[in-house]
Amino acid sequence: MRDALIEAQSLSRIYRRGETHVVALARASFVLNRGDRIALMGRSGSGKTTLLHLMAALDTPTSGAIDWPALGSPDTLLPAKISLVFQTPSLLEPLTVSENVALPLLMAGAADSADCASNVERAVAAALATFGLEALAQKLPEELSGGQMQRVAMARAAVGRPLVILADEPTGQLDHTTGQALLDALIAHLAGTPTALVIATHDPAVAKRMDTVWRVERGVLTETDPTVRRT
Ligand SMILES: Nc1ncnc2c1ncn2[C@@H]1O[C@H](COP(=O)(O)OP(=O)(O)O)[C@@H](O)[C@H]1O
Ligand SMILES: [Mg+2]
Repeated sequence: MRDALIEAQSLSRIYRRGETHVVALARASFVLNRGDRIALMGRSGSGKTTLLHLMAALDTPTSGAIDWPALGSPDTLLPAKISLVFQTPSLLEPLTVSENVALPLLMAGAADSADCASNVERAVAAALATFGLEALAQKLPEELSGGQMQRVAMARAAVGRPLVILADEPTGQLDHTTGQALLDALIAHLAGTPTALVIATHDPAVAKRMDTVWRVERGVLTETDPTVRRT
């Protein structure tokens, strides 16, 4: 079994708007392995979201190469193998909390028989319990606070036990204690699994809970950790 889940070589993403262009990511090379716990740190506008979207194959690089050696073709990644917790609210408004959390499992066809449907129910109930959301199960997103929405988005990302979870500033809207509780729940949920976790964050307290810090500054991945190779 190969350990490398995502490998990138000299990855760049340049946004062009008319005459101007922004180098959001400049020649980044890295390897994400099974079980990694990475904090992706950098100021606002440094390229964190751009990097996460490239890792999820939601966006294509302007140049360089990215590959998912253990995961297969890029169009099969989301949401079963890689899940992404977006920086902005991303719950589907007409669906309840419980239905939102079930989505990745339904998209993977996990409810195609009666047997499987009860497995989906069980997995959703477990994810809601893990993130302390049982009491909100039947609520609609519009009835939730920003922090509660973030917890639901995290439960939705974790429910299908993907091999990679990419979370874009998931504690950005939460107070310190709530943010740490969310992280506790996520880390407990992932304990003993091969899932790799990458969390974009400004918060050193969040970064401390991860094993490795990747730093991105004006599009340049500068961390000298062994998993980041400079080019
Ligand atoms: N769709 C886009 N079009 C043009 N510029 C963009 C776009 N998305 C991001 N950028 C620019 O790319 C840079 C990196 O953005 P981003 O990856 O969102 O940073 P971060 O997540 O660290 O705040 C910023 O300068 C931002 O303004
Ligand atoms: Mg961002």
